[in-house]
Order: sequence, then C-alpha cells, then structure tokens
Amino acid sequence: MKIGIGNDHSALELKAEIIEFLKEKGHEVVDYGTYTTDSCDYPVYGEKVGRAVVSGEVEQGILICGTGLGISLAANKVKGVRAAVCSEPYTAKMARQHNNCNILAFGARVVGAELAKLIVETWLNTEFEGGRHERRVNMIMEIEKKDQ
Ligand code: RB5
Repeated sequence: MKIGIGNDHSALELKAEIIEFLKEKGHEVVDYGTYTTDSCDYPVYGEKVGRAVVSGEVEQGILICGTGLGISLAANKVKGVRAAVCSEPYTAKMARQHNNCNILAFGARVVGAELAKLIVETWLNTEFEGGRHERRVNMIMEIEKKDQ
C-alpha cells in the first residue's frame, strides 16, 4: 500500500521507526515532513497528508505529533478526511472497521515505538465492514456539505 506520513518536531524519531517498519512490511511510504527537530507548526503537515489522501496520491495517511491531536484536527479540516487518534490497537481496529478512517494519528509523547507499530499493523490489516456502518460514515460526510 502507498502510505503518506507526516509529523511535527516532537515525532521525528518515532516517524523514522514507523517508516522502517512500514517498508519492512512491503509498503511504499511518502514522507511529507517535517524533516528536522526544529520547532514547527503541526497544521502544515496535517493538511499536507490530508490533501494527499483525499487526492488519491496515497491510499492511507499516518500522522504523528506530541499527542496526535493537533495534527489530526488539522487533517480533519480537509474535506474527505476521517482522521482518528488511536493510542491502542482496539481503537485502531474500530476506526477502520466501523468508521472507515483514512488517516491514523497517534502521539509520540503518548505511545512507545512498539505499541505504535502494533497500532499501525492493526490499522493496516483491518478492512471497513460497510453495511450499517456505511450509512453512518456517509452521515458524517454529509455534515461537511452543510457548512459549504
Ligand atoms: C508541540 O509541542 C505539541 O503541541 C504538538 O506536538 C501536539 O501535541 C499538538 O497537538
């Protein structure tokens, strides 16, 4: 799978581990930055990955900041994004299975590297279930249209 990844300065080290993990599993990774530990603004990277996912440049996105919150909030402002902060595998599984989320976010100051890998693996191995969940996901996306 082609996966886009983005982060802020707090998550550079964890991002490198996740990229290595993804490549080991045979995925293609596009790194949208940031590329240094210089303090930066997470909305920039949330938006970049959000737009890459919605345009189809990549199939799924992974975002990492200190908590996963700021960067996912930014991504969720891009029309078509459903980004979820997941700090353990169960939520990651449900975010795919029930919510058809297209971006996984987590916090480099919240989860360690091994837990993060488990979260990523669970996310990538889980398919959207559809059915009644499709109607609800469509309802979420309809909300965007009300605010045009
Ligand atoms: C940066 O210090 C921190 O605010 C950011 O990484 C993130 O946790 C924001 O939600």
